[in-house]
Amino acid sequence: MWVLGLESSCDETAAAVVDEHGTVLSDVVRSQIAAHQPYGGVVPEIAARDHLRAVVPVIEQALAQAGRTLAELGGIAVTARPGLVGALLVGVQAAKGLAWASGKPLVGVDHLVGHLLSAFLHRPAAPGAPAGPPPTAVPAFPFVGLLVSGGHTGLYRCDGAEVESMHELGATRDDAVGEAYDKVAKLLGLGYPGGPIVDRLAADGSADRSRVRLAAPMAHRESLEFSFSGIKSAVARHVDGPDAPSNDAQVADLCAAFQRAVTATLVAKALRACRQHEIPRLVVAGGVAANRGLRERLARACAERAVALFVPPPESCTDNGAMIAYAGALRLRRGERDRLDLGPLVTSALRRVTRKGRGRREG
Ligand code: KG4
Ligand code: ZN
Repeated sequence: MWVLGLESSCDETAAAVVDEHGTVLSDVVRSQIAAHQPYGGVVPEIAARDHLRAVVPVIEQALAQAGRTLAELGGIAVTARPGLVGALLVGVQAAKGLAWASGKPLVGVDHLVGHLLSAFLHRPAAPGAPAGPPPTAVPAFPFVGLLVSGGHTGLYRCDGAEVESMHELGATRDDAVGEAYDKVAKLLGLGYPGGPIVDRLAADGSADRSRVRLAAPMAHRESLEFSFSGIKSAVARHVDGPDAPSNDAQVADLCAAFQRAVTATLVAKALRACRQHEIPRLVVAGGVAANRGLRERLARACAERAVALFVPPPESCTDNGAMIAYAGALRLRRGERDRLDLGPLVTSALRRVTRKGRGRREG
């Protein structure tokens, strides 16, 4: 059963055709980065307008690359939550229009569920192309999911592929980790999106040489919660102070110190979650999973603790339509359907245990 998946929750307009086994026939992603670059962050109104322009061509391209027509599909899946409401609305309306016109079933997908299932996607080589690497192993349930992106940061216990089987163990109290990377890059005047730039500079720098001591945020706590606003403020104070980095080498050292502190926390908490829940499988998802420092530390720590680590390829980690199509295909296979009055929601269906700015919810 081939399913068309649409994604428009933030700054990527994406469409893909995927089946219920995770086989990706096509995966088209149109990034809006250039439109938001002058502002150093995503501007919701620009995002919504840009999705509107891109959504139909992106869908047409995904169907053409898959060699499938709407009539040959088993259904249409769309990110319905969480995200920017104006941005979500574009994908949801497009999906509803297609479902109504074609008579195909419609399912809404939670964006976080899509990310947490992205390790199940596999991308066969295009016909005629040289054979790619062999399919990597897929995780078994239960697994611990570490979601690290520009909009979300949290740890999840995943006992199955349904919303009801995924439970937040702890999330960020304030900024998402990608957001912290982007803000630090902005403070240092490095450009947008800042994550990849800071990551690259960190490889040349030395955390030991850095004149600023950045502690791993909340690493000492037994909890599985995160907080990144404090470390961002520490960088801001440093940049405004007398020891502000004054050359490229000092900027690189500061990036290295920031990266070391942040990745130390992510790795420590992810492995703590595996230990507390006695689950020897860890799946990483979201755009920050591309971070080289994080990948290296995770690989080392997981090998030491005999935890199997699953890091999907970058095209599955960043926002994409394939993860939405796959999560939607599983819903359709279970016989689930949404009605044509489906509307976007800004919150995830996964219950938050960490409250913004306040820590853990009791009970
Ligand atoms: O998942 P994603 O594409 O979009 C969502 O936020 O949903 O993640 C984008 C975020 C941005 O904040 C970007 O700076 C960050 O991921 N990012 C990185 C790296 N590559 C992307 N952060 C740190 N290191 C990287 N190599
Ligand atoms: Zn995302």
